[in-house]
Parts: sequence; structure tokens; C-alpha cells
Amino acid sequence: MTAGLIKKAGRAPSPRAAKLNILSPKRNKRLQTGWEGFFPYYAGYPELFARELLQSAKLPHGAVVLDPWNGSGTTTYAASTLGFSSMGIDLNPVMIIVARARLLPSSEADHLRPLAATILLHSRATPPTLAEDDPLLGWFEPGVAAFIRGIEQNIRRSLVGSMTKSPDGVHLDKISGTAATLYVALFAACRRLVAPFKSSNPTWLRVPKSTETKIAVPQITVARYFAENVRGMSAALAAKQDADLLIPDLPRAGECKINLSDTVSMKLAAESIDFVLTSPPYCTRIDYTAATRIELAVLGPLLKTEARALGRQMIGTTQVPGAPIEVSDKWGKTCARFLKALRAHPSKASAGYYYRTHLDYFDKMSRSMERMSTGLKAGGRAVLVVQDSYYKDLHNDLPKIICEMGVQHGLRLSQREDFHLHSMSDINPGRRTYVRPTGATESVLCFIK
Ligand SMILES: C[S@@+](CC[C@H](N)C(=O)[O-])C[C@H]1O[C@@H](n2cnc3c(N)ncnc32)[C@H](O)[C@@H]1O
Repeated sequence: MTAGLIKKAGRAPSPRAAKLNILSPKRNKRLQTGWEGFFPYYAGYPELFARELLQSAKLPHGAVVLDPWNGSGTTTYAASTLGFSSMGIDLNPVMIIVARARLLPSSEADHLRPLAATILLHSRATPPTLAEDDPLLGWFEPGVAAFIRGIEQNIRRSLVGSMTKSPDGVHLDKISGTAATLYVALFAACRRLVAPFKSSNPTWLRVPKSTETKIAVPQITVARYFAENVRGMSAALAAKQDADLLIPDLPRAGECKINLSDTVSMKLAAESIDFVLTSPPYCTRIDYTAATRIELAVLGPLLKTEARALGRQMIGTTQVPGAPIEVSDKWGKTCARFLKALRAHPSKASAGYYYRTHLDYFDKMSRSMERMSTGLKAGGRAVLVVQDSYYKDLHNDLPKIICEMGVQHGLRLSQREDFHLHSMSDINPGRRTYVRPTGATESVLCFIK
């Protein structure tokens, strides 16, 4: 699928553009309330951070904002509420649905509950026959899995319109906002049900071992969790509608496209984007598909790529790349130095597995940044939120590496703010064995083309 849908629309404003207002990008559960609270996915930064930054950019009318690693859609949501056109790209189908749901207009608040009631009614009346390899069976007893699949099928049947379908399956990136919202309610219900299999790593959900009991709950519990979520979402959306009425001159929501695409091969129309705001995948061994395993299981029959293959395609994957990768000059000097030190590190697997997975990360990042830069207008800006980390005792200065990569791809750093984080989203090896500073630095890098 391509992302080259945005029309070319003139030069971006002057390079002496407004200084950006950069709040802390630190994620904060307290800020995730109301409608926001229903999208508790691994987010790069809070909505307030995105909103303040976009507002301070003083973008012209008709400006196009891009987030190439859109995740739960913080950028596209903020851009849309400010009235800008926007495009969000992500490779994970779950994130496409989540980002689309987040854009549901508050005028839809009243429709959600009756729809959910009808869906539950049909699901009880005609439970489907489950395919033997249905991924839900990984966590649930067959009866529970069949009921969940029934709800999913009914959302699909009643709300995924013909526009979304083609001979090669359902195009998840064209799914309606209402269908996406009901999927998110089902995701959250399943997440609650599989809570016993959460592990100490917040991005990892265990699959029960063959000796462990799978989830066996009455249908009514599943139905109740789903209905509670829909009720909560509907109330949060109605509250947002009331709050919006109090805002003078509230802009009309901007148009937004959410595309299922890989940034390594995305096709952006050249010089079509005014502003990029994004947080790229981290280089801290976060498996972005493992973090959404249960949601991927719900979407099972709609997926075109099997979960493991999807995981391998992700930037930051923990899987070793198939083909050998050479270090490129385009990755910059700091990256080359870091990779050399990593390869020479005496610890086990440094020269093998870890070296190869890091090569894969930098290769995919560089190729994605090249495409992102081509899509940006001359004078356009790109803001990337990146975090440093440690490989054992070696500092992986990702902010510096990304700065150098940006320069290699025709961008100039115009502003930078660093924020110290006390805890690190770091599951790299060696946390206990090696002496290294606690926490991490999250850097907001503002480039201009
Ligand atoms: C740090 S998260 C972005 C968080 C986002 N800013 C938010 O507010 O939720 C990085 C995202 O990059 C996506 N991703 C990883 N590799 C990708 C690729 N090759 N192409 C497109 N998206 C990718 C992941 O699925 C994940 O959602």
C-alpha cells in the first residue's frame, strides 16, 4: 500500500519559522483522562506536547502534517483538532485501528451504545465455528474464543463497508471510525481478560504454557467488559462534545489519512509535507508487535501478514535480519563508532546477534529518514522525539546519531531540547551487570529542510 496520496501544495513557509514551544514529551498517566484514556498504547508523547508544538509552528492554512510512526495517533489527533490536514503511517494494523478510532467525531457519541447492543445480540444468537488455528485460542478456552470472534465478526459485518473490501481482503486503513472504535472497545475487553498473563516487561504479554489453564469466563463477562468500554467511550466523547462547545472559534477537524505502510518503502509525494512530528521506534529492543499481541489475535482473520513476519519488518525488531547488512556512510560517524564498539564488546552474542539487530535498526531508520526528507517541502520542518540508551556499558547516543543521519539526508538541526527521564524504557541486556547512569535522555530534535 502506498502513502503517496497528498497533493503537492507550494513551498513551506520561510526557514526563519517561529520558535517551537516544546513541553516535556514525558508520558504521564495523569494526562490520559477522558477520551484520551481509551488509547493507553505505548505512546511517544502526550497530546498536550503535540498540540502546543503544532500550534507554535504557526503553520499556514492548508498545511499538511505527517507522522510516519503514528502509533496510537497522538500527532494525527492533535493536528486534526487544530484543523490541519494530516497523514499518519504505521506498519502495525492495530495502531491503524487505534489511530482511526481516536479521530471519531464527538457527534457519534450517541450511536455507539445502540450499535454495541445490536452486535452483542447477534453474537449471542449465532456463535461462529472457530477455525482450528484462530489466534485467540492461544489465550482463551474455545467457548470464550468463539464468543470474542463472534463479536469481532459482527463488528466487521455490520460496520466494515464495501469500500474497505477488495478481492485481497479488508483494507484496515479504510475502516470507519465507528468500526475502529468498537474494535478498540473489544481490544480493551480482551486486554482485561488476559491480565493474568502480563509480565514484568510492560510491552510483553505471555502466551500460557500448555500446562497452564487458559482463560475460561462466562460469555456474560466478555459482553459486560465490552459494553462497559463502549459506555465509557461514549460518555467520554459526549463530555468532549460539551467541552468543545465552550471553545470559541473551534476549527473544523482537519482531514486525516491513516495509512498502513512501511516507512522503509513508503512512497510520499516529493515536497508534499509541511511539518513532521513523530517519535521513531526506539533502539531499546521494544518489540512493537509483541506489545499488541492480543489485539493482533483479535484481528487475526483480517491480517495479510502473519504476526512473526510483521514483527521482523518492524524497525527495532528483536529478530535477526535475513540478508547481511553493511554499515553505510549515511548513518554518520557516531553510529559507525558505536557499532564498532558493540561488535568488539567481549560479552556473548555482541558480535553476532546484537550487532546484526542494531545494523537492521540503523539501516531501516536511515532509509525511512531519506524518504521522510524527500516528502518534506523545502523550508518544511521535522520534529523527532528520540531517546538514548545503553547497550551494556556502551552509550547509544541515538539523538546524536539521528542528528547526523538527518544532515546526511538534507536536513539541518534548528532547535533541540533535552529532558531527563528517571526511568528508562530499556530492556537491553546488562542492566544489572554494567555500571551506567540511571534514567535516559529524551531529546526533541527539530530539523529544517
Ligand atoms: C514510538 S512508537 C510511536 C508512538 C506515537 N508517537 C504515539 O503517540 O503513539 C513507534 C511506532 O512505529 C511503528 N513502526 C515500527 N516500524 C515501522 C515501520 N517500518 N514502518 C512504519 N511504522 C513502524 C510501531 O508500530 C510504533 O507504533
